[in-house]
Amino acid sequence: MRCLNIDLNLHMILVLFLSIPIIIKASSAEDGYKQCEHTVRHWASSSLNSEVKEDKHLLRDLLFFLHVPRTGGRTYFHCFLRKLYSSSQECPRSYDKLRVDSRKPNCRLLSTHDDYSIIYKLPKEKTSAVIILRNPVERVFSTFEFSVEVAARFLIHPNLTSVGRMARLPRPKKAGVSTLDIWPWKYLIPWMIEDLFARRDAREHRGQTYTMTNNSYDMEDILMPLHEFINEPIVRDIVHNGATFQIAGLTNNSHLAESHEVRHCVLKYPTFGKYVLEVAKKRLNDMLYVGLTENHKESASMFANVVGAQVISQLSTSRSKREIANNNDSEQSSSLPDSRMDANYQRNNTYTKVKKVSSIGKDEETNKNMTVGKLMEAYESCTSDLRNSQEERRANSLKNISPANFTKEARRHIPKVLLQKITSLNSLDMELYNYGQSIFAKQHERVMQTIVDTKRQETILIESAYINSYGSPSWKVLSLGTAGFSLLLFLFLSRRKTSKIKL
Ligand SMILES: *[C@@H]1O[C@H](CO)[C@@H](O)[C@H](O)[C@H]1NC(C)=O
Ligand SMILES: *[C@@H]1O[C@H](CO)[C@@H](O)[C@H](O)[C@H]1NC(C)=O
Ligand SMILES: *[C@@H]1O[C@H](CO)[C@@H](O)[C@H](O)[C@H]1NC(C)=O
Ligand SMILES: *[C@@H]1O[C@H](CO)[C@@H](O)[C@H](O)[C@H]1NC(C)=O
Ligand SMILES: *[C@@H]1O[C@H](CO)[C@@H](O)[C@H](O)[C@H]1NC(C)=O
Ligand SMILES: *[C@@H]1O[C@H](CO)[C@@H](O)[C@H](O)[C@H]1NC(C)=O
Ligand SMILES: *[C@@H]1O[C@H](CO)[C@@H](O)[C@H](O)[C@H]1NC(C)=O
Repeated sequence: MRCLNIDLNLHMILVLFLSIPIIIKASSAEDGYKQCEHTVRHWASSSLNSEVKEDKHLLRDLLFFLHVPRTGGRTYFHCFLRKLYSSSQECPRSYDKLRVDSRKPNCRLLSTHDDYSIIYKLPKEKTSAVIILRNPVERVFSTFEFSVEVAARFLIHPNLTSVGRMARLPRPKKAGVSTLDIWPWKYLIPWMIEDLFARRDAREHRGQTYTMTNNSYDMEDILMPLHEFINEPIVRDIVHNGATFQIAGLTNNSHLAESHEVRHCVLKYPTFGKYVLEVAKKRLNDMLYVGLTENHKESASMFANVVGAQVISQLSTSRSKREIANNNDSEQSSSLPDSRMDANYQRNNTYTKVKKVSSIGKDEETNKNMTVGKLMEAYESCTSDLRNSQEERRANSLKNISPANFTKEARRHIPKVLLQKITSLNSLDMELYNYGQSIFAKQHERVMQTIVDTKRQETILIESAYINSYGSPSWKVLSLGTAGFSLLLFLFLSRRKTSKIKL
């Protein structure tokens, strides 16, 4: 009996002894969790509290285009925003890191891949944000393909040393910003270049005796298979849930020091993702405009009606005010030589010869007589130019990794489990995208209502003018044109099959 007791006691002591470090370990992990929870919640509540109360549907002084990579934002930038705003109204170094430039405190347009935290450098209460969201799985595909496409352009070089030498050459000042300078491409592309060269070197060593699969998304002798790509640390860091992190201001490119701690906590403890989502949803809800890549045509005509119409009236008001006040043009002349960043990544460089997109260059006069109808017309021809030059570029660079080719057919062969994996790696973005779709639907309703109201009002106006015999027939046609045209255009575009622009 006694013996057993001693034995038991000893046993208990041993258990006690052994479990102390475990308890300490567990409690420090718990501390980390608690600490993180505190950090994330504190960030979330202060982010949610610093909202602007004014009517979100009204365009404020500065338009902030939060351009999520691979959502088709380039067409909005080139084919809408640059038709509306003159170069002197664009904030310096859009797309590159914003350097708040005292010479241009009153710029009206900022378009960037930087995250939402940049707003803390802007006059927040005077800023309206716009955004385009894309199905997260499609966005991951597009990111993968674009990384490979751009990296493949460098395969014309004999080796990496030679690539490095070229990349270090000073770029012509006027050529603007290169893809390689812009987050997240400045990380993804060099990484992909190295990978492509390594695979090419390995092939050469083996003397081309490799077996070729026929699936371009899983052709490891030529390029990184998609299933590897999505699991790479760099991709987990900057691609997955990228839209949510960008809107939350928590990308690893954030301007706020505090963001990085929050970000690390959320990556470590995915359960805190819910706080991030809450902030992102709130901000999305407060934006002037939300577009969807998948509903391209509808999104574009809504952009013209919601954003375009307000920019036109805002700029014409401020222009006439200025013209009446004095003929003082000194603000215009402050335009910086490098303020027009060529963020369409088309630079006259040593690697590629690019056909210039004719409609991109423009002058100060562009927005003077703009109407929503003219804007849509300009947009249509601009996008088709842009698409053509893009497709040509893509085809040329994919030749360098032939027989791999990213075709629709090849996509159909991607295993379902891989798609599910991408979905689960992007669960925050999936939820945000669903939310974005509901905002989009509401916005659509509101715009339709506004167009119908405007049309009704104009008809009344025309009728009364007609009765008073002030209206000549030509004036009547002209007036009807404004509202009627945008309505027709809208209906026409909405009904047209939502053809996706491949970006
Ligand atoms: C890389 O290519 C350059 C240019 O052809 C050549 O001069 C150099 O020797 C090459 N370097 C290596 C390590 O092969
Ligand atoms: C690859 O080849 C197999 C057998 O020939 C075929 O069933 C499959 O559809 C092909 N996959 C692609 C992506 O073409
Ligand atoms: C952001 O991510 C890239 C790729 O993982 C990394 O190289 C870079 O150092 C990160 N930047 C910061 C500020 O963490
Ligand atoms: C034009 O503006 C500048 C500064 O904005 C001012 O110094 C100058 O007097 C103005 N000229 C006229 C004619 O108002
Ligand atoms: C741009 O490209 C053209 C033709 O490809 C070439 O003639 C010109 O010298 C290039 N300009 C610069 C600044 O590289
Ligand atoms: C803009 O419209 C005015 C009259 O409304 C006209 O005199 C002027 O020439 C037009 N400007 C342009 C660039 O079309
Ligand atoms: C890739 O596919 C497209 C059509 O999907 C085709 O036009 C193009 O020529 C192909 N490229 C190569 C290098 O096979």
